[in-house]
Amino acid sequence: MQRLVILVSGRGSNLGAIARACRDEAWPATIAAVISNRPDAAGLALARELGLPAVALDHRAHPDRAAFDTALADAIDAAGADWVVLAGFMRILGEPFVQRYAGRMLNIHPSLLPAFPGLHTHRRALDAGCTLAGATVHFVTPTLDHGPIVAQVAVPVRPGDDEASLAARVLVAEHRLYPQALRWCLEGRVRLRDGGIVAEPGLERGRFVD
Ligand code: GAR
Repeated sequence: MQRLVILVSGRGSNLGAIARACRDEAWPATIAAVISNRPDAAGLALARELGLPAVALDHRAHPDRAAFDTALADAIDAAGADWVVLAGFMRILGEPFVQRYAGRMLNIHPSLLPAFPGLHTHRRALDAGCTLAGATVHFVTPTLDHGPIVAQVAVPVRPGDDEASLAARVLVAEHRLYPQALRWCLEGRVRLRDGGIVAEPGLERGRFVD
């Protein structure tokens, strides 16, 4: 059974979706720990409710990014992680940290990358007049919200959408996308080789949800 460590900074709804997937007997992994850089994150409270080991690691208690990254890596390794899963983790991670978990660290971002990395994705998509929005699961590389893509889901932008309504539609799609994409990686059906994606033929890695 592979061990996941999930990193959260906020609400934790993607954590919830992955935890639900883990209840399936055929799911090939278990959540070894949930770690948050924000001690008050709702995602951490959710982890406790679900009976998962929950670790608060306040980034403000560390003198700099490198010190925080080292403490984070220590906590991840103490949990015996095979995979690091970023689920709304809103801290930039330094290059040594990213290299340490290369090929076994995933992130979800609420846009069709490479469009709109960073913050305020939905507002920027609406401002740009996009007719499609969506979400991407990708392997983490040192560049923020960048890296080889495991899977994407596209959703329509509807007339009258505002940031909140678009974010809500994308989030529903995220909750289906992340467990599926993660599972493909756990099973070795999608993996990283020489900095690029190798995927089993026939996987529906791109989907449109109306
Ligand atoms: C999700 O929409 C996720 O895609 C996004 O934060 C939200 C977390 O929600 N992540 C990023 O923007 C990463 N750049 P959640 O805490 O309810 O899972």
